[in-house]
Amino acid sequence: MPITNDADWWRNAVIYQIYPKSWADGDGDGFGDIAGIRAHLAHLARLGVDAVWFSPWYRSPQADGGYDVADYRDIDPMFGDVATATALVDEAHDLGLKVIVDIVPNHTSTEHRFFQELLAGGPGSDAWARYHCVPGRDDGSKPPNGWESVFGGGAWSPVPGPDGEPTGWWYLHLFDASQPDLNWDHPDVHAEFVETLRFWFDRGVDGFRIDVAMGLVKAPGYPESTRHVDRHAMLPGEVEPEPMWDQPGVHAIWREWRRVANQYSPPRAFVGEVWVSSAQAHAAYLRPDELHTAFNFHHLKAPWDGPVLRRIIDHSVYEAGLVGAPTTWVLENHDVPRVRTRFGLEAVGARLPTSNTAQLPAVQPDDARGVARARAALVFMLGLPGSAYLYQGQELALPEVLDLPAECREDPAFRRTHGAEGYRDGSRVPMPWTTEGPAFGFSTSGTSWLPMPADWGSISVAAQTGDPTSMLELTRRALRLRRVEQALGDGDLEWMSAPDAHCLVLRRPAGDTDPHVLVAMNLGDATAVVEATTVVLTSGAELAVAPDGGFLLPPDTAAWLR
Ligand code: NOJ
Repeated sequence: MPITNDADWWRNAVIYQIYPKSWADGDGDGFGDIAGIRAHLAHLARLGVDAVWFSPWYRSPQADGGYDVADYRDIDPMFGDVATATALVDEAHDLGLKVIVDIVPNHTSTEHRFFQELLAGGPGSDAWARYHCVPGRDDGSKPPNGWESVFGGGAWSPVPGPDGEPTGWWYLHLFDASQPDLNWDHPDVHAEFVETLRFWFDRGVDGFRIDVAMGLVKAPGYPESTRHVDRHAMLPGEVEPEPMWDQPGVHAIWREWRRVANQYSPPRAFVGEVWVSSAQAHAAYLRPDELHTAFNFHHLKAPWDGPVLRRIIDHSVYEAGLVGAPTTWVLENHDVPRVRTRFGLEAVGARLPTSNTAQLPAVQPDDARGVARARAALVFMLGLPGSAYLYQGQELALPEVLDLPAECREDPAFRRTHGAEGYRDGSRVPMPWTTEGPAFGFSTSGTSWLPMPADWGSISVAAQTGDPTSMLELTRRALRLRRVEQALGDGDLEWMSAPDAHCLVLRRPAGDTDPHVLVAMNLGDATAVVEATTVVLTSGAELAVAPDGGFLLPPDTAAWLR
């Protein structure tokens, strides 16, 4: 059922992330593209999501999977062109899907017009002022400070003069050297992005996912950081305030963007990638005149631990409530390991590093428990209020691909750290659509930019369709129930289980006839009893009735009950 054209759709939408390079290849070159997406769009309608988010599709040298944009108002030829992108937006709308696209305002590609003008200009020219160009220390031979790139190594590279000669100046790149950070003090930078927002809004796009939304403003004078920086810290309280992140000036940018979004009917929506140190700092981005929502990375990083997950849920609901924003939930994206593998590793006692890039432990995951937990985590997440994100292939319970050969890896952090980090390609392996055939239906020619595991036909869309025990059919069922019958995206939650319980049980107001649904997940080692009379949905086998009433919920299982 299509969602209504309600201006508040983003408050409870389930949003499916497509990494365009890896979803479906329409022209047989081994890279996914817009033609492939258009050919498979019905999959999303049948799945029952409300919206789709496209990771960057702009013109780009692809040094960081398209997060290095050369032209924000053009589509990369590997994906299609503006006309086919616009047709795709229209077709998604016809299927009742809202469309969000990624935007990358913290940095451009070195191939962006602004950086090309910088290279042609001289030290101190106006073109230089659009980026963070700073004289180096020791007569320019050393970078201005010791800031590190998120992808490893230093965060500064020398600015060459027009003929390639040394200038003694350095430009900042918090990510790859091919991703120079923009200077948001320059009016041209504001104008470039306002024009870009309007360009895509005018073509029907319903909102943007904002990359690195807490990074655009740097502390004046680029002060040295005196704190220990854990570049991959992510859990609440782990992220220390740093001079390159979460500077107060960034909020004025979001207020400017919100004014642009509000000029449309219905108003366009933003979801921010916001990594900050505290609940209060996060909530500041969600004030009514800034971003509509932000990703919940605390949930994304939550270990398989009941009391910890409960604290994260409470923290998230509290934080969003500070400013009247909805909560969001996310288990996977293109930067982190697949949950089937992550939770399967936790089942054998191996906690992943908090890094989204570090090499996974050498032990093998318990795959059966990983699958059970991936299913449970999905059912539990879809029982929570707010909006939720699904990453492509999560509906198939795709595992992380751990054994990609080094020569195939494209994550820039892999190169910059000589293989110590940069393993994100493991979650970017193309989607299997068919049980047989080259590239399992991903591409018409059978080539794929990353090799696909030989057994992926057995977990393809075709293999899982119609199998009531499959993750795909579970996802379809859960999405339909969440939206149509139980209306679980709206309303509050109330805990029924004790704060230290390993089996989480919470009560949700839902539906018109019977006002409550219990959402339960057993993260402990022992079977638990949930007091209820009816099972609405379970992530595992049918639940047995407990001897004294209620239902038995085995470990690694979630259910919705009444
Ligand atoms: C976050 C994106 O999700 C990631 O893929 C990218 O590498 C960085 N931002 C830099 O743009």
